[in-house]
Amino acid sequence: MAKRLVLIALCLAVVALRTANAAKVPAIFIFGDSTADVGTNNFLPGSKFRANIPFNGIDFPGGKATGRFSNGLNSADLLAMLLVNKISPPPFLSVDIASVVKKKSFRGLNFASGGSGLLDITGQTMLTLMKFGTPKEPNHDSLQSKQKNVISLGEQIQQFHTVHGNLTKTKGLTGTKNLLSKSLFFISTASNDIFSYYHSGSTIPKEDFISSLGLAYEKYLRALLDLGARKFGIISVPPIGCCPSQRVYNATGGCLEELNGHARAFHATIGALMNKLSSEYKDMKYSVGNTYEMTINVIENAALLNFTEVARACCGAGKLNAEAFCQPKAILCSDRNVYLFWDLFHPTQTAAQLAAATLYGGEQRFVSPINFAQLAAA
Ligand SMILES: *[C@@H]1O[C@H](CO)[C@@H](O)[C@H](O)[C@H]1NC(C)=O
Ligand SMILES: *[C@@H]1O[C@H](CO)[C@@H](O)[C@H](O)[C@H]1NC(C)=O
Ligand SMILES: *[C@@H]1O[C@H](CO)[C@@H](O)[C@H](O)[C@H]1NC(C)=O
Repeated sequence: MAKRLVLIALCLAVVALRTANAAKVPAIFIFGDSTADVGTNNFLPGSKFRANIPFNGIDFPGGKATGRFSNGLNSADLLAMLLVNKISPPPFLSVDIASVVKKKSFRGLNFASGGSGLLDITGQTMLTLMKFGTPKEPNHDSLQSKQKNVISLGEQIQQFHTVHGNLTKTKGLTGTKNLLSKSLFFISTASNDIFSYYHSGSTIPKEDFISSLGLAYEKYLRALLDLGARKFGIISVPPIGCCPSQRVYNATGGCLEELNGHARAFHATIGALMNKLSSEYKDMKYSVGNTYEMTINVIENAALLNFTEVARACCGAGKLNAEAFCQPKAILCSDRNVYLFWDLFHPTQTAAQLAAATLYGGEQRFVSPINFAQLAAA
């Protein structure tokens, strides 16, 4: 019965997508980590977190490895297609801002950086995300040097501050305010903070750590509100204990329950924070995508949703194909459409497609208090 309902709900979401006079926004500004990065880290020569090598991009037009941690498009791209009729806007670091904001075709920018988090320290030093090390183990020299691994969320917000200046110069204060108040601010972050906390064996109590993430998030959201943002699409932390890279730590191949507990705690924190901010800013609107529920639903109803593999990575090596990043010598699965995970951390394009459709048209169990289509129309 429950399964049937879920399937019907998903079908409805898809129908809503196809039939509704789809709600759009003038621009989308994307922030966060590798789930939304479309090539930011390609501009950080010293970064360990780069995906601009095959087999990444094998299903992208031209088979190009763009820096997306995916076989094709990621969730940010697929949502942008629904919201601005194009894949994600380009990385902030890849364009000449002063000229890009003048273009009629300007639909926003992408600031997301793989490996980053809410805390400035996340991703900056070597992470113990994986049991068997990162693809390029940083040597002493690269740690000593000033080479950046990631652009933290704080720095991404500063970059947006620059863009705000450029927009104001081009469109004036009122024009900029008008554009930004209707645009969607998409943020997908915090998983890397939680990974680092868990694997560093920190003695900070869980409650204190999660609340420190909430405080950092509040600071950044207030900065965006001050710059004129009013529509927020927030992606909460998925059941990261179920990533193939984390299942490797469990002898049974099951999920790491403690990590999933952190993800649920973070979801509660972010829900309360958004509620608080929206009572302060009466013209603010938001959606929180519950990627925890969405992903657990896929894992529990895999067959109904046409996934036959929800634990192994499609591209990788070793146990669960999850002991190495995706790279040209990796083992590649034969049918990417039936895998939930592309690599040890990230979903396949097929899974991202389902996620985007659910965020856009899904029910409150998966996205609340309103979905992204309602947010765009609000
Ligand atoms: C606009 O962008 C350029 C870089 O493209 C930057 O040098 C400049 O200071 C920015 N700010 C304003 C207000 O134009
Ligand atoms: C490992 O997975 C099993 C399910 O297969 C689960 O019951 C157990 O709690 C998990 N262990 C840890 C350490 O999370
Ligand atoms: C699953 O695959 C079958 C056959 O390809 C298709 O008819 C069905 O619509 C798919 N179901 C979902 C939920 O995608």
